[in-house]
Amino acid sequence: MSKLITIERHILEQQKNFPEATGELTDLLSDVAFAAKLVRREVVRAGLVDILGFAGSTNVQGEEVKKLDLFANDKIINAIGQHGRFAIMGSEENEEIITPPNNENGSYALLFDPLDGSSNIDVNVSVGTIFSIYKIKNSDPRKADISDCLQKGSEQVAAGYVIYGSSVVMVYTTGHGVHGFTYDPTIGEFLLSHENIVTPKHGKYYSINEGSYAQFNDTTKKYLDYIKEEDSATGRPYSTRYIGSLVADFHRNLLTGGVFVYPPTTKHPNGKLRLMYEGNPLAYICEQAGGRATDGRRRILDIDPSELHQRTPLYIGSEDDVRVAEEFEQGIR
Ligand code: AHG
Ligand code: MN
Ligand code: MN
Ligand code: MN
Repeated sequence: MSKLITIERHILEQQKNFPEATGELTDLLSDVAFAAKLVRREVVRAGLVDILGFAGSTNVQGEEVKKLDLFANDKIINAIGQHGRFAIMGSEENEEIITPPNNENGSYALLFDPLDGSSNIDVNVSVGTIFSIYKIKNSDPRKADISDCLQKGSEQVAAGYVIYGSSVVMVYTTGHGVHGFTYDPTIGEFLLSHENIVTPKHGKYYSINEGSYAQFNDTTKKYLDYIKEEDSATGRPYSTRYIGSLVADFHRNLLTGGVFVYPPTTKHPNGKLRLMYEGNPLAYICEQAGGRATDGRRRILDIDPSELHQRTPLYIGSEDDVRVAEEFEQGIR
């Protein structure tokens, strides 16, 4: 049951407890919450307003862009950019970095996936927004550049996501636990609903696109065969749950336990998911909730990024289950 604490109030309370934090984080996360409300407004009306279907363009990922991808992207850039707190931004939908309109006082960089799970938009399946926040390294915000975006995930000061599902939930961490807020449309606020989320060490769900089985390495095939064997002593077989929206699969596994795997495939030898605005923010949240996130070998948060849109294999979720998947990936099992 909600304690009627808004996300803004919660962030303020968090910052009172941690002297190193400044009031700035409150403003940043409030900016993101505001943009999420604007995106939610369109997502819940999709089908009634002309926001479904393809926009007629292809993005840097080689994907056909949906109207809602562009709507969400535009809202986040402008609703957040106008407050001047971010010196620079990087989005899945923009090939190059984005310099917000009035960035001269911005101290932060925002990396984001404006609309995750685009393939599910037109069929009313949960989609999301993912965001990652860094302090810029450049002393002059007006000179902020790509190097202020390309920082290791371990340098994040905040990360979170919004899932537009049966209810709209915003989850964030600033390094002091993971907290979830459910949107109450009657008052237009995100209210605390999941305080201090801790993910189970083991779960019964695994999330992977089995349709790509023919494209998987032999190690991944061996892993899949293993988790489907009958062995109650090791909690097998797992149950498959795969929505096709990373945020929705991640959120379910975070709450109930489970493992999400997007491994290397012949089509995506480095995995399909993007490090800077999918892997890093979710890895930060997952670790803060007691889970584990690697690329099958390395901790996601330790990967030194070289490109804004670089991809990574992603093994993320309950610690015990991720470790089993890694042991197969590394040929130990
Ligand atoms: P996006 O919609 O932001 O491009 O992300 C889509 C991603 C992710 O949400 C999901 O887990 C994955 O693509 C699904 O990929 P497959 O269809 O290859 O399984
Ligand atoms: Mn995505
Ligand atoms: Mn996206
Ligand atoms: Mn996309």
